[in-house]
Amino acid sequence: MSQYIDDDRRMPRFRVNRKVMTDPDVFAREKEKIFDKTWLYLGHETELRKPNDFKTRNVGGRPLIFTRDKKGRIRVWVNSCPHRGAMLCREGSGNARFMTCAYHGWSFSTSGDLVSMPGDTAYGPGFERPGLAAPAKVDSYRGFVFVSFDPEIVDLKTYLAGAAEYLDLVSDMSVEGMEALEGTHHYSARANWKLLVENSFDGYHAMSTHQRYFEMIVAARGPIDAGSSLANSRSINLGNGHAVTVGASGSGDIFGRALSAEARAEREARYERLRAKYGEGWVERLNGIRNMVIFPNLVVIDLVMGVVIRKIDPIAPDYMEVTAWELAPPEEGPELKRQRLDNFLTFWGPGGLASPDDVEMLESAQSAYASVAELEWSDISRGMHSNVPIQSDEYQMRTFWRRWNEIITGEVLPPEEYDPLPGYWTAPRLDLEADTPVTSF
Ligand code: FES
Ligand code: FE
Repeated sequence: MSQYIDDDRRMPRFRVNRKVMTDPDVFAREKEKIFDKTWLYLGHETELRKPNDFKTRNVGGRPLIFTRDKKGRIRVWVNSCPHRGAMLCREGSGNARFMTCAYHGWSFSTSGDLVSMPGDTAYGPGFERPGLAAPAKVDSYRGFVFVSFDPEIVDLKTYLAGAAEYLDLVSDMSVEGMEALEGTHHYSARANWKLLVENSFDGYHAMSTHQRYFEMIVAARGPIDAGSSLANSRSINLGNGHAVTVGASGSGDIFGRALSAEARAEREARYERLRAKYGEGWVERLNGIRNMVIFPNLVVIDLVMGVVIRKIDPIAPDYMEVTAWELAPPEEGPELKRQRLDNFLTFWGPGGLASPDDVEMLESAQSAYASVAELEWSDISRGMHSNVPIQSDEYQMRTFWRRWNEIITGEVLPPEEYDPLPGYWTAPRLDLEADTPVTSF
């Protein structure tokens, strides 16, 4: 047993030592062994609509520039001037052919070339003009752009393993391709980043933590049959530390506000087109709900009326920053779009009905870890005794923790074995060969 994970299969019981949420040495090791060595989500290709669009963003503690060059190619640069290091691009987003460093005025194109420097004759004819530095690897899958700072890392598709199929499900909601909507949520929490990983696919907390939200839904549309939705759910290990919880087709509607007949008809017409393209089984899956964590820090939640992408950034053992975006079909009509945005703001937003509840719980846990010496372990055993792990169990978290433990301590713990998934949760997309390109930059 490692000092961090107690994985007792006989009892059965799974516990995580709370030091992993508080210890600066663990935090330093995470940076070196996880955030410097895995694929990390940077952004969605559709955030950069035109040539020379850019976003600046921190990933794995590094300041980066996410841009399209003038030829429309996605490029990622380290946001530091090769001259003496000043942050080159100090805006959050914009469109610019050239980025000029505020310190001594060196200017770079979005292709990373140094195009001018004040008084350049002082450098002599042999001087090699340095271009912008880039992360070791940049790849995208279905528009999701990832970077890695490890030149030796496996290719992105291999790394994503079973998670790629769930990015397909989310991306296939529009035959035109999903787009990230303008507008971003930024918030922070005084809690360890892994607490939000756990929370992002924790189906157990919803009714108690978000009681007010459910009271509002019940008042608006009558009692909710959450039990039947849970009974028809699964928690799935996707490999490499990634995991997802899935709920049956249509279960998102149970937890959301009612849609008008017109909006339902519009959605149904879109699904009809998707059925013709991808087959009934795939679209039934697509119409279900899912909460996925792609190890270590990317969350994709497709729950009530929308798809949320959440990037979690560890800043200190007890502090994280979070960025979130909403994905949508570009062809969506006004009512569905309004509901989607309303839900993104009023449910998931930093001042919404759900996220502040969650942040409150995570911060209360983090501050209570001050007594880690007296109460060392957190319990994550839920559902371990059954043959079928469901959404409100904790198998998805154990999957994350085993991978985390393997990377941090080298201890390999065997995966849990469960009954095979029913066929309706493995139905393939009919035109599988058509398009799942990994683009290398
Ligand atoms: Fe950028 Fe000198 S540090 S021009
Ligand atoms: Fe929650």
